[in-house]
Amino acid sequence: MRRIVVTIDGPAGAGKSTVAKNLARRLGYRLLDTGAIYRAVALTAQRKGVSWSDAEAVAQIARDLDIRYNFVGDKNHVYLGDEDVSAAIRTPDVSQGASQVSAHPPVRAALLEIQRRVAQGGGLVVEGRDTGTVVFPQAEAKFFLTATEEERARRRVAELGAGADYDKTLAEIRERDQRDASRDIAPMRPAEDAVLVDSSTQTIEQVVESLARTVEERASRS
Ligand code: DC
Repeated sequence: MRRIVVTIDGPAGAGKSTVAKNLARRLGYRLLDTGAIYRAVALTAQRKGVSWSDAEAVAQIARDLDIRYNFVGDKNHVYLGDEDVSAAIRTPDVSQGASQVSAHPPVRAALLEIQRRVAQGGGLVVEGRDTGTVVFPQAEAKFFLTATEEERARRRVAELGAGADYDKTLAEIRERDQRDASRDIAPMRPAEDAVLVDSSTQTIEQVVESLARTVEERASRS
């Protein structure tokens, strides 16, 4: 069977990361979490005292980014140089920063090539906001994963653990989705040929199973 590129886009908290991870494992594919790249840029800017609104300075950080991934067991580790930043890039603060830096055209341009390079050779599950529309328009299997805002907020609270506030998390999700979907460049939206999947009423296993069947069917076409 051919090893194709699979894209999974959708809003925050729709379950993309978990679905992408499990799907990649089930198919024996590699995994690319594009949100982690925007997060790594936002974290680096914050540490250097560069404002997230400074498009040019942030784009320079994106061009110089020394990012590596290591997908082991259940965890998708992200490194900047030798430092494991997997936890540091997941804070609510860096989530908003990632959404802000991702709206700058020169930042997106700098990160486009990094993402395309990874896909060479196929056999890749990639997740983000514009992976089916802009980064990999030729991908052979595209999905847009959604869930209700309330369900997404509930999942995010469970993920963040003790102390996470539901109303605050819901407000943050709304703010981020609004920004990600309304920006001028590469806004979050389903590709015309994407399969729409609502994860509100299905388990992760059910979603992964249905995506895997679609991928296998597409990959076996000549
Ligand atoms: O998927 P995530 O929550 O880790 O993404 C963090 C932010 O990065 C998201 O709010 C918008 C941005 N992003 C993007 O603009 N394009 C992508 N392909 C992935 C993420």
